[in-house]
Amino acid sequence: MIKGEIFMQDREKPFSIAIDGPSGAGKSTMAKMLARELGFLYVDTGALYRTIGYAVLQRGADPSDQAAVEALLPSLTIRLEQQEDGQHVFLNNVDVNDCIRTPEVSMAASRVSALPAVRQFLLDIQRNTAKSVSIIMDGRDIGTVVLPDASLKVFLTASAEIRAQRRYQELIEKGAAVTYEEVLRDMRQRDYQDSHRELAPLKEAEDAVRVDSSAMTLEEAVEAVRRLMDSRRSRSDAVRKA
Ligand code: DC
Repeated sequence: MIKGEIFMQDREKPFSIAIDGPSGAGKSTMAKMLARELGFLYVDTGALYRTIGYAVLQRGADPSDQAAVEALLPSLTIRLEQQEDGQHVFLNNVDVNDCIRTPEVSMAASRVSALPAVRQFLLDIQRNTAKSVSIIMDGRDIGTVVLPDASLKVFLTASAEIRAQRRYQELIEKGAAVTYEEVLRDMRQRDYQDSHRELAPLKEAEDAVRVDSSAMTLEEAVEAVRRLMDSRRSRSDAVRKA
């Protein structure tokens, strides 16, 4: 279900915002805030990779074992559904939203995301979702691969220490037994894996706007992106009227 007005960039193409960046930069918080305000659909693409990572762990396979993961893919049906409280991801018709945010699944997601068959498997789901509605998608390769023609591309980043501190806080609030050092170590390892894989690595698109949230609050970062968005929208309105 999509609430709110759907902004059209031109008659055929809905407005799309790509938000890429390393883990813990605040992409999902930013995307959710903007989506709510603008009435856009928000898609968290990391949840799709997490769902595959979760399925692989559940079946006792090694997330780095290309042959084992590839063999599993045909048995997986992954579906995104928008509910009142946001996006839910279904694995073979079971809602796995609450199972995919653990540190183990995070690491498995990062590992399976390096496999070409996994990226191909998820590409169609992501592109099909963006076909007909105005959308905000966050991930690692949205501006470079999934939506190369996005109306606005943001590369949201922050220092590893600040990202780890934010993630640590989140995990502690959920009752997880982790230390800051563990979170920082995992974050650095995921950064390395996500930006050094061969296919669709985490990389700033040439036409992306870089927003470093190390020294600003997330509200300030969202405000910066909102201003960019407004200026793009008024520019595309002007082009349409001309
Ligand atoms: O955004 P996240 O932490 O939920 O993502 C989990 C993992 O999925 C991340 O380590 C890399 C991978 N990922 C990806 O490769 N491409 C995306 N578009 C989104 C996530």
